[in-house]
Amino acid sequence: MCGIVAYIGEKNAYPILIKGLQRLEYRGYDSAGVALLNGKLNIYKRKGKVSDLIDFVGENNVDGTIGIGHTRWATHGKPDDVNAHPHISGNGRLTLIHNGIIENYALIKKALEVEGHTFNTETDTEVLVHLIEEIQTREKLTLEEAVRVALTKVVGAYAIVVLDKEDPNKLVAARKASPLVIGIDENGFLLASDATPIIEHTKKVVYLNDEEIATVRRDGTFEIRTIGANEIQTPFIHELEMQIERLEKGGYDYFMLKEIHEQPTTIQDAMRGRLNAVDSWIKLGGIEENLEKFKDAERLIIVACGTSWHSGLIAEYIFEDLARIPVEVEYASEFRYRNPVITDKDVVIAISQSGETADTLAALELAKQKGAMIYGIVNVVGSSIARLTDAGSYIHAGPEIGVASTKAFTGQVTLLTLMALSIAQKRGTISESYFKKLTQEMEQIPHKVARVLEKCNTQIEYISGEIKNANNALYLGRGYSFPVALEGALKLKEISYIHAEGYPAAEMKHGPIALIDENMPVIVIATNQSAYEKIVSNVQEVKARQGMVIAIVTEGEKEISKLADYSIEIPETEEPLTPLLSVIPMQLLSYHIAVMRGCNVDQPRNLAKSVTVE
Ligand code: AGP
Ligand code: GLU
Repeated sequence: MCGIVAYIGEKNAYPILIKGLQRLEYRGYDSAGVALLNGKLNIYKRKGKVSDLIDFVGENNVDGTIGIGHTRWATHGKPDDVNAHPHISGNGRLTLIHNGIIENYALIKKALEVEGHTFNTETDTEVLVHLIEEIQTREKLTLEEAVRVALTKVVGAYAIVVLDKEDPNKLVAARKASPLVIGIDENGFLLASDATPIIEHTKKVVYLNDEEIATVRRDGTFEIRTIGANEIQTPFIHELEMQIERLEKGGYDYFMLKEIHEQPTTIQDAMRGRLNAVDSWIKLGGIEENLEKFKDAERLIIVACGTSWHSGLIAEYIFEDLARIPVEVEYASEFRYRNPVITDKDVVIAISQSGETADTLAALELAKQKGAMIYGIVNVVGSSIARLTDAGSYIHAGPEIGVASTKAFTGQVTLLTLMALSIAQKRGTISESYFKKLTQEMEQIPHKVARVLEKCNTQIEYISGEIKNANNALYLGRGYSFPVALEGALKLKEISYIHAEGYPAAEMKHGPIALIDENMPVIVIATNQSAYEKIVSNVQEVKARQGMVIAIVTEGEKEISKLADYSIEIPETEEPLTPLLSVIPMQLLSYHIAVMRGCNVDQPRNLAKSVTVE
């Protein structure tokens, strides 16, 4: 959940670590810290953001060409100066940063206490650094060997980097179920939770695999071994393709706003080279290579969390509608802990922006064990899910920094739509004329998204001012608009802290209608062509109870617009594609309300961008 970064080489480590932590701050931001070695070990750590750490460090000594840094999302022990990482061993020799959870820390802690260790923090991480020290001193092992042996005794998830005060010429890192990337620079090495701190130094990276331990040395050599069998691994060096500009705010106040505005481009990027409406084809490498599997699939099971789960729900509608394959959409966290029926005729699709979500990863592992083919729809290139799956498609949205997912969602929906269309064409469940119509319309979506952004923003800002003080909000939609209602509600909750619920519009009368009064904004996504009259009736039901209706309608719509307090018009499109347009007002509404309420849009309280713990 947190971000870790480390450097060894010829340059000064501190600026590299700080810049890296700022890049990784989306992963966790309740406290931050660095350790630098220059003969003397200097550790600075502080509750709060990386900027608080910078203020705290001030003019203090930050010399050193080797160092480690951490931005935390606490799991064990409250966020404060003491529990912040790095953590130090009892004899003061080893310093460690950690992302993940040591599940058996309590047992290890007890055993170490018997050996005379005392602990200063409430974290699981401090136990690990004491354990490594204990093994290193008792068994007189090299650092890498002590780390390796210690990790064989640990249950849980970790990405760690260890710094030895007595050896300024190397860093030891390891991972299991939390990501770690090694950047190979001309003059040194960078280690980080993802590639964003690395890209401006080097494009050459190695993704550490689960249960591997790496030693990187000042002399430019490095070595990777397995933790269990202690076997040397041959590293595969990847070339990064990320663009640095995508990591900056580019004139916008928040990353989220920038990412919302990037969507015409990112949707285009998700389709680039994959769709040709003129010649009526869609080509997705992962699908083409596994065509028989998809054509013959008896069922698709989609596993995901949060916003990615919402795109999975849209995929359920579209796959069943067009490709006529039964689809089940599962919360990864539920799926993994029941005893799901999975067969080798199933294709299990994981959807994940980060590619690191612990529950999604575990659900996939389970599906793989049971013999299903596993497919990934992922944004972060080289992430754990991307590497675990048999095949997959990247959405190519570029780094998404705002914790609230926006462009990744539309990227996922774009790709899932292409998949459904392509499989439908190959299975013969869609007419050529409808296929052509939908692909032509897909090509128009980026322009239409741009039009929504241009035309609706000012109006949505005004409406946001009218409802910003509400305590609750209800989001309603039918059919393809129902998952959009869920997504709208999630966006509002997570960044503005207003309680919101998404509901199928027709379900409202089975309960939530009791909540409606003049103080309750009801956002109705009413872009349906099918069941249009039904949604008109739902709006009437809300108005009859004095609810305030904000309707999302297609341009030129009359009936609902007359009933609603506010109607936001978006361009018309084919019904299966409407979520790609109707979600944009949802994103803008939550953004403006959050700004007006003084919330930190990019880093909402208690949340982290990628949830690499259970
Ligand atoms: C989205 O706005 C959320 N912050 C969150 O629900 C997110 O979608 C979820 O944690 C899944 O993440 P993933 O796509 O990286 O797997
Ligand atoms: N479990 C560790 C802690 O609570 C690390 C959490 C993280 O990944 O940020 O400090």
